[in-house]
Amino acid sequence: MNEDFAPTLVGAWNAARAQLEAARVDSPVIDARLLLEAATGASRTDIITDPRRPITPEMAATLNSYVERRARREPVSRILGRKGFWKIALQVTSDVLTPRPDTEVIVDLALKAFPEGRAFTMADLGVGSGAILLSVLAERPAARGLGTDVSLEALAVARENAANLDLNNRAVLLRTSWADGLEDGGYDLVVSNPPYIPSADIAGLEPEVRDHEPRLALDGGPDGLDAYRLLAPEVMRLLRPGGLFAVEIGHDQARAVRPLFEQAGAHGVQVVRDLGDRDRVVTGEKPR
Ligand SMILES: C[S@@+](CC[C@H](N)C(=O)[O-])C[C@H]1O[C@@H](n2cnc3c(N)ncnc32)[C@H](O)[C@@H]1O
Repeated sequence: MNEDFAPTLVGAWNAARAQLEAARVDSPVIDARLLLEAATGASRTDIITDPRRPITPEMAATLNSYVERRARREPVSRILGRKGFWKIALQVTSDVLTPRPDTEVIVDLALKAFPEGRAFTMADLGVGSGAILLSVLAERPAARGLGTDVSLEALAVARENAANLDLNNRAVLLRTSWADGLEDGGYDLVVSNPPYIPSADIAGLEPEVRDHEPRLALDGGPDGLDAYRLLAPEVMRLLRPGGLFAVEIGHDQARAVRPLFEQAGAHGVQVVRDLGDRDRVVTGEKPR
């Protein structure tokens, strides 16, 4: 950051914005404000109504370090260590995928299918930060759930998030590959947002994703479909008759993923679109 910015909220905001613009960050104004809020404790309203409020040298140094990280294209959520998803706040670290708004489609489907008051069990395969599992459990107090991941570090983040949300008595977090070791027919709902980027496409992703998200959360193998081939029969094995599944897909993967679940015995398979009107989730049922 420039050394000579005025040590006020608005001066710091302008200097941060200019540095992020130069680094070709997508949303420099908003990101600069979020980092300023975190570094100074000022709210958005403070910045607008009291722009000349002085900031201390310590605040300026903290902001400087945040802006330098963002200019290296580290996501804001990673710098701040937290991300909002659905209606909950999650801790995020370099060991978990930053939860995406697209994934909220799965939460929406689950909450519509399982009304409040109904007791049900769910499994979230590849739980990461706990985004899907904890969002559903937070709104369905009679539900219980299990999240799996192969990453011990991701599971530690999910455990911390479950504890922060007071959900650790209803969420079990287990290290295993997808559904290995889980009982047949034990779940009313199975969800997953597996890695689905074709390996060769990863190098061309935005630096925020390519350089800062765990490879294990992105890499779907040569055609991006490795995980679905394993998951389709396992999801059907885990479900009770009449149970529901929902898996996230890449926007161009519906034609490949849908038949994998149909061949595994799913009924009523549908593709659901996200808010950007792109194919995002494959959902269906295990026949009764
Ligand atoms: C795309 S991220 C999704 C994380 C989280 N569910 C979300 O939606 O934000 C995929 C997750 O699958 C996990 N994963 C990758 N391979 C796995 C495997 N064989 N078994 C279980 N989890 C796996 C990764 O560690 C990562 O946490």
